[in-house]
Amino acid sequence: MAHRETAPYRAQDPHEVKQLVQALSLHTKKGKGGGKGGFSVKKSTFVRPNGRSVDSWRMQDWDYKKEHLPTYARGLFTYTTLDGKDEIAVRGYDKFFNYEEVRKTEWRNVEEHTRGPYELSVKENGCIIFIAGLDDGTLMVCSKHSTGVRGDVAVSHAAVGERWVERHLKSVGKTKEQLAKKLREMNATAVAELCDDAFEEHVLAYAPETAGLYLHGINLNLPEFVTYPGHLVDKFAEEWGMKKVMYVMEDDIKKVRSFLEHVAETGSYNGRDTEGFVIRCQSREGDNSPWQDWFFKYKFEEPYLMYRQWRECTKAIISGRPPRFKKHKKITEEYLLYARRRFAREPGLSKQYNQNHGIISLREDFLSERGLKGSDIIRQEMENGEYESKDVKNNVVLVPVATIGCGKTTVALALVKLFGWGHFQNDNIESRQRRPQKFAEAICALMTPHPVVIADRNNHQKREREQIMADISNQIPETKFVALHYVHERNNYNQIRQATRERVLARGDNHQTIQAGSKGQDEIIEIMEGFMHRFQPVDTSDAPDDQFDLVIDLDPIASSRENLEVIVEKLHNEYPGIFSDMPTAEDLDAAIEFAMNDYEPSIKMDLSKGGKWAKPTQQNKQRQNQNQNPSQSEASVSSSNAVSATKSRALKLEYFSVRLPTQRINSILAAIFKDQDPNTARFYRQLEQSRRLQPEFHVTLMHRASAPQYPEAWDKLTQLHSQAIESQSTNKYPEPELGKCNVQLERLVWDSRIMCIVVRLNGSSKEGLTWESVNAVAHVTLGTASKDIKPKESNDLLQKWLRDGSGEQTGIGELTVRGSVVLEGSVRGVLQRF
Ligand code: GTP
Ligand code: MG
Repeated sequence: MAHRETAPYRAQDPHEVKQLVQALSLHTKKGKGGGKGGFSVKKSTFVRPNGRSVDSWRMQDWDYKKEHLPTYARGLFTYTTLDGKDEIAVRGYDKFFNYEEVRKTEWRNVEEHTRGPYELSVKENGCIIFIAGLDDGTLMVCSKHSTGVRGDVAVSHAAVGERWVERHLKSVGKTKEQLAKKLREMNATAVAELCDDAFEEHVLAYAPETAGLYLHGINLNLPEFVTYPGHLVDKFAEEWGMKKVMYVMEDDIKKVRSFLEHVAETGSYNGRDTEGFVIRCQSREGDNSPWQDWFFKYKFEEPYLMYRQWRECTKAIISGRPPRFKKHKKITEEYLLYARRRFAREPGLSKQYNQNHGIISLREDFLSERGLKGSDIIRQEMENGEYESKDVKNNVVLVPVATIGCGKTTVALALVKLFGWGHFQNDNIESRQRRPQKFAEAICALMTPHPVVIADRNNHQKREREQIMADISNQIPETKFVALHYVHERNNYNQIRQATRERVLARGDNHQTIQAGSKGQDEIIEIMEGFMHRFQPVDTSDAPDDQFDLVIDLDPIASSRENLEVIVEKLHNEYPGIFSDMPTAEDLDAAIEFAMNDYEPSIKMDLSKGGKWAKPTQQNKQRQNQNQNPSQSEASVSSSNAVSATKSRALKLEYFSVRLPTQRINSILAAIFKDQDPNTARFYRQLEQSRRLQPEFHVTLMHRASAPQYPEAWDKLTQLHSQAIESQSTNKYPEPELGKCNVQLERLVWDSRIMCIVVRLNGSSKEGLTWESVNAVAHVTLGTASKDIKPKESNDLLQKWLRDGSGEQTGIGELTVRGSVVLEGSVRGVLQRF
């Protein structure tokens, strides 16, 4: 281990740093090569309290996978020294990747191209803090991309980090000036993890006495990556009063691997749950290349996450709580059944389990009884399409959880601009009745043409989240909900207040309901305070927030540009199929710029008591009409308020139907079957219990598949649909009503596969067109026995019924709907779902 005994040192070469700064500048937006060469750089300038400035350089996470970058430092600040030289002020680690994530981290390559000693440390999940000394003797404490000052708002991470530095130094009787001087002499940046629950909660809990800065690295301030060995980092931490991290040393890569796989078995190390490990070592490209400091990480993935879920659920049932789980549903239920049986049979086992004994053996007993390995289960789930979180391509609804002025609409418009997704603002509903339902309906309608839709409302209370998720799931059960959680910490309220008020007051009247230009400032602030006061953070351990498939934490104080990037990155990581091309930094900039500058609401109204709805101002209308760039800017305004007429004509219609009230049908069915003998009611009960009754009922007038057969009817209906879209004043719904139609329910008909009601249609359009179904027998499909049986099979059943009748020989059941039940239905064109 000789090469890791002493502290590395090299002075900066001003010429080399100058070249680095030039290379990075060239790839910023302003630089000539902006975006060229496959990567782009974001430069931000921060002014320090003494008036001097430092520049932060950041690339997108995914750009670090590219070759030949001027540096791979994640977290890099430069400045100009008093004598006019370029100098690196702060240097983070080289960006490191998960095993198997890139070519270099494939195990085979790790085994071949790295050397020990390997230092394995638990992947911390606080926030990273950099500490360094500048040439004027001041200490710089910053987070990855910020020095902690933006305008007048002290940004929390860095500021809290700095307070902790002061506290730690005081504990050993040292000063910030001394630390600054020392670090500059070393030409190094100290890297620490800020773990402070009072400040923010991460997954793992840190008790007050364990809070503080955990020093985990010391990097030389050079373009290439040179870092201190662990024992010298520890020594430095001791000298300067900071906390040390724990790490394990290993010389043999094979042992590293078996160690990691062993810890993955339980997901817990030293009594704490861990997300994974960071492995520090040295690597080289080829046999003759020089060794370089190099890190990779090992994140615990499936099947270990499933095992962890089993453990949590087991502990829940032992303590009498309902187990909560969303993934691996079937196998988890089976496992829990097995566990319950074992606990019932073997007294004392549950107590042991609660003391963390026998966790693995219970799991292995279950698996061996099944003759399965964890990896087999995951593979089977994937094959059955059950475990498809990585496969998600559509039916995603983004649900902001926020207060006024957090930037919901700005971020939403930017996403629309980038990906053409759907967006609906609650503030665009021009009615006081049934607003929540209308909001959900509008989102569902937009889900037809769009893979992802943003439900732009504050959703700051649990009951709002409950409502939107329940109403949408009722219509589209497979919907995945993603929370855009603008984290509001009570001790951070003042800063949030400052940031959101500034934005809202600056926005003035450019909003549907919150018009800070016309209303009194106090009134606006009062409304905003109301939201802050009622805000309920996302809590996934309980309903309704346990329905979220993914929660993306955002910072209400951060810029919308920063939040946008977090969203894009998280969505990409979680659902790689959700968009194909990763946007560049310029794309993100441009999208935010568009959202901030080129958007105006299409309607304005006063939601206060006695307030009037105002139609768009003349100016506003003109502005929209003048909008000459339909593909981009209009798409975003229109997708947000609705799909424009032109656009929705381009979207494919799937069928035309008469939509019927779901509740009415369900209660009619319940009433009919209430008094039937079990045999007659059997198939209905089966549908009911297996939740195979349709979530929505309709009579199909015509499906697009029949268009070649009935071209005139299809054209006529399509034409009515376009007219209806055009005649909507505010252009909101892509599936507007074409007319009403009375539907008389006549007979229930079913076999062992499908159930439907034969109906009679009675109604006509404004143009005098009689509503007719092109199907031989007009009907409503009520439900099918399984997913594989398509509703259109009703046609076959009804043909058979007409030919052979009902009864035991034919296997067809039949019941008359008594008392001439007529329901009013709504005729609509329904768009194709992706
Ligand atoms: P409500 O609809 O009122 O609840 O607000 P919201 O959460 O939709 O916020 P919105 O996106 O309207 O942002 C509020 C104002 O702040 C708008 O005028 C935006 O243009 C502006 N804004 C949003 N993000 C940023 C940002 O990153 N920087 C600056 N300077 N302004 C921003
Ligand atoms: Mg808004």
